[in-house]
Amino acid sequence: MSIIDDTLAAIDADAGQALDRLFDFLRIPSVSASPAHVADCQRAAEWLVAQLVAIGFDAAIHPTDGKPMVVGTIKAARRDSPHVLFYGHYDVQPPDPLDLWRSPPFEPTLETGPDGDRIVARGASDDKGQLLTFLEACRAFQKFGGPPCAITVLFEGEEEIGSPSLPAFLADNAKRLSADVALVCDTGMWNATTPAITTALRGIVADEVILTGANRDLHSGVYGGAAVNPIHVLARILGDLHAADGAVALPGFYDGVEELPDEIRTQWEELDFDAAAFLGEVGLTTPAGERDRTPLELVWSRPTCEVNGISGGYSGEGVKTVLPAKASAKVSFRLVGKQNPDKVVQSFRAFVTARLPADVKAEFRGHAGSPAITLPIKNEALRRARRALEAEWGKPAALIGCGGSIPIVGAFKRDLNMDCLLVGFALEDDAMHSPNEKYQRTSFHKGARSWARILAALAA
Ligand code: BES
Ligand code: MN
Ligand code: MN
Repeated sequence: MSIIDDTLAAIDADAGQALDRLFDFLRIPSVSASPAHVADCQRAAEWLVAQLVAIGFDAAIHPTDGKPMVVGTIKAARRDSPHVLFYGHYDVQPPDPLDLWRSPPFEPTLETGPDGDRIVARGASDDKGQLLTFLEACRAFQKFGGPPCAITVLFEGEEEIGSPSLPAFLADNAKRLSADVALVCDTGMWNATTPAITTALRGIVADEVILTGANRDLHSGVYGGAAVNPIHVLARILGDLHAADGAVALPGFYDGVEELPDEIRTQWEELDFDAAAFLGEVGLTTPAGERDRTPLELVWSRPTCEVNGISGGYSGEGVKTVLPAKASAKVSFRLVGKQNPDKVVQSFRAFVTARLPADVKAEFRGHAGSPAITLPIKNEALRRARRALEAEWGKPAALIGCGGSIPIVGAFKRDLNMDCLLVGFALEDDAMHSPNEKYQRTSFHKGARSWARILAALAA
């Protein structure tokens, strides 16, 4: 048998223990958004270092202003092998709302579904299960003299909050992290039986607006009619963000948005996307948003403005006749093409400010954004990965877009001049960020096998 066959057999033989390891990882509630989980994030980073060391890496924790980074390196079995940088994130989204989980989010369970065994826990799919597919491939290579490529891994603990510590860390560690190609496992398959390589990600930028009227909450009988209500003002402004045809109404918002190149349009048309099923699965019937665009185009190649949350006044049970002093909203924008995150936020703030009536003040709280990114499709690493995926799954890998965002992909290009190869095994119904998040056991197992084949193909 060849080394790759031996390695695949080792992954198969070790599948039970690999699952135990994933369960250990999933038990650590490494929620980056929550101050209550700072120590858990540290623990997740330490757990990763221990795993890396156990499979032959040199590995250490690197503190940042936020959650620590984990960096590990291992030499290739042979000299003159290519050098890859692998990225994943160990932080997870908050598990809320807790009452909708069938089992506690940080007590992983194996459920039997119509589509086979599923691993249910927060982070199963995003991104702990995905991240471990790569480490399980590395572990298997260790039994046969080491991996075919030199490998650096970078694990981040702040992806789910927009990677605030990443730019400084990349700047300080550019040399340590440079490699021939970056591999990222944080995206999905085309469907349960078709692997995929993602070649376009949307960017994202978020802002928060807080409107203040009176200097305290008021009795709506004593003041109602005479005093301005910031919730009314906010509702009107948020309503104005979209035109009747679904387009975003911010001046300059579409600057830098480009129509799809024919090559990509044809590629996506060949995917035979089932728009009715896509919406039907989540209980919807009709595409919202810009008219005259297909749902696939809307999520992969068009920008959006979404209100993510509104608060103000009284929303507890029963009636409270309050005229609130404050109202706030969280808003985020998905970006495409050359849209500039900072300009979008400036335009949003100007739009709000221009609509404020007398006595209402606006405050804003911004977060750093990341622009959209497209990856070259005529690329040797991509061609090799595509063949490796086809060997594992028995079907050609689809080249797909992704409506979500992964800030590091743009940063790798900008700061380290590295293109990424985005290969992931998540499925649309994995419920990433939602209650009862799951990862198919097949994704986990064949994901590890896929990485073994990809590393071998990159080194061949
Ligand atoms: N893994 C996701 C990105 C993703 C989403 C890939 C959907 C494939 C399908 C990533 O962890 C994520 O959630 N990104 C955030 C970024 C944000 C918090 C800066 C996103 O897209 O909202
Ligand atoms: Mn992710
Ligand atoms: Mn995520």
